[in-house]
Amino acid sequence: MIEPTTRTYDPEDDDLLPPDSHRVYAQGAPAEDSIVETRGVYRVLGGSGTLRQVILHDITLKIPRGEFVALTGASGSGKSTLLYLLGALDRPSEGEIWLDGVEISSLDDDDRAGFRNERLGFVFQFHFLLPEFSVLENVTLPMIRRGVHRDEADERGYDVLELLGLSELWKRRPGQLSGGQQQRVSIARAVANDPAIILADEPTGNLDSKNGALVFEVFGELARNQGRTIVMVTHDGNFADRTDRQIKLRDGHVIEDVRQR
Ligand SMILES: Nc1ncnc2c1ncn2[C@@H]1O[C@H](COP(=O)(O)OP(=O)(O)OP(=O)(O)O)[C@@H](O)[C@H]1O
Ligand SMILES: [Mg+2]
Repeated sequence: MIEPTTRTYDPEDDDLLPPDSHRVYAQGAPAEDSIVETRGVYRVLGGSGTLRQVILHDITLKIPRGEFVALTGASGSGKSTLLYLLGALDRPSEGEIWLDGVEISSLDDDDRAGFRNERLGFVFQFHFLLPEFSVLENVTLPMIRRGVHRDEADERGYDVLELLGLSELWKRRPGQLSGGQQQRVSIARAVANDPAIILADEPTGNLDSKNGALVFEVFGELARNQGRTIVMVTHDGNFADRTDRQIKLRDGHVIEDVRQR
């Protein structure tokens, strides 16, 4: 039997209703070493009745600083939805999300956007590089937008490109790079902001195996050598097995959470 990827709301089914206990928290801020903490997080879509869908159920996770986490699960299991919540791009319907000591689920839209720009780095399946700008400019523009002086942004941008083996390509346009190189530029852009947490949604999904492996290695090095905290959604079991920890979703539930190192 093929299991449905989401369930529609059934008033008889208690499991789909956030229990009251999830609405009250007296725990306060997480311990220092826990950079990501979710407490009883639900994401519910579509008002009431049969249109109501519970996309994420009672997600409670602690991710320590410097951990490289793979988020896995079948298509439609809720990986991107959870990543968007962790990236402050969306708000939970219930529960708390703490990122680097800040309860982001209670921030208003402006403050959440500010937090996102200052503290988080995103890498998506498609790199969203600006075709009219050079590699270096693509990396420095977000910094300049945040108020970093151009010279300093150039210096930091160049250093990060060097770290990712791209410094010789700094003048090129994205269209003059391979897919793997483009994706590494988008990682450079995310890292240059010195984010507390890097969130990646299938960063290797659009790459051939050689470039995928290269990009995966870059994430591994960022975690090991720079102590970056990384949450990466991936469909590639090989990569997922080689991270520090694998969190597997099914139908919006965490069904496995395994430390691998
Ligand atoms: N805006 C939306 N409106 C309605 N349903 C949505 C919306 N966003 C997500 N969903 C549903 O929520 C569920 C989880 O979606 P999500 O995108 O998080 O899955 P995923 O695990 O990232 O899947 P994939 O591997 O295909 O990217 C899916 O069933 C999807 O159809
Ligand atoms: Mg997805």
